[in-house]
Amino acid sequence: NLCNGHEAALERVQGITNCELQFMNADILDSNTLDKVFNNFKPEAVIHFAGLKAVSESVADPLKYYEVNVGGSISLLKTMSKAKCNNIVFSSSATVYGDPQYLPYDEEHSTNPVNPYGRTKLMIENIINDWITTDSKRRGTILRYFNPVGAHESGQIGEEPIGTPNNLMPYIAQVADGRREYLNIFGNDYDTADGTGARDYIHVVDLALAHIGALNQNKLNKFEILNVGAGKSTTVLELLKKFEETSGVTINFKYLPRRDGDLAAFWADSSKAFEKIDWQPERNIKKICEDTWCWHKLNPTGYGPK
Ligand code: UD1
Repeated sequence: NLCNGHEAALERVQGITNCELQFMNADILDSNTLDKVFNNFKPEAVIHFAGLKAVSESVADPLKYYEVNVGGSISLLKTMSKAKCNNIVFSSSATVYGDPQYLPYDEEHSTNPVNPYGRTKLMIENIINDWITTDSKRRGTILRYFNPVGAHESGQIGEEPIGTPNNLMPYIAQVADGRREYLNIFGNDYDTADGTGARDYIHVVDLALAHIGALNQNKLNKFEILNVGAGKSTTVLELLKKFEETSGVTINFKYLPRRDGDLAAFWADSSKAFEKIDWQPERNIKKICEDTWCWHKLNPTGYGPK
């Protein structure tokens, strides 16, 4: 419904792919419209990306998160049931694991999300699991994303958060392009190589390819959960240095206390995805920084006004 997106991005996707896309501006909670879309297009499968994803907002307004994320998924699954559309790939998050009992996280790691956003993701995973068991033809693939970053290498599509970025990469890029004065680094006393938080950053194009893998597979079980990460962690300072090298711009920063709810470090064991969907990430941190910087240089104001 474009509440956090831009129609211009779709036009650019058409340019890159040379494919005509059909777009319907509708809310996932509007079942009548969803039914019409399914009647018109008769999709074989759904990749379900429609959700809210800001952790702090989910703490401030949990009901909105349960309504849109959980309610929206139920609405979608009801429509899929009516339309006999039996295959869903769902965007979940590594945030469902919570405090690491061991690292890297594999899919067997216990789940204990620590905020409403994470709890909505876990609930939806369980709802999909219950939904597929009621019909032998149904399939559900859960992709647990680690930290998606980067942009398409054409520089035509990328991340343009509305307002102040919550996440690290868009913030670094906005300091580099002069929109913000300095980066706040939340904590330098973690038990990591340099004291700053460490995450598993995955190029958004590699992440996109995992979805294609999840659709064009035959080794997956009826219900499958797959981690989608690069399999190694990078600290805030390491990412900042790599971005400086790539852009040639000095990125000023200040240390602030730890951000509430942040973990020190985590990264993925994605070997199950390698095995089940023949997928491997191919774009490293350098490529992530190059593509992010290219997107920012070509689009200093993002997609422009809505
Ligand atoms: C966050 C969410 C996660 C969600 C993901 C979506 C939280 C606690 N977690 O992950 O649930 O799935 O975004 O992409 O919000 N950092 C700074 N300065 C900044 C921003 C971040 O130092 O201005 C640090 C953080 O402390 C962390 C690292 O950078 O160590 C990555 O932060 P971020 O990009 O927000 O991702 P996550 O917190 O891992």
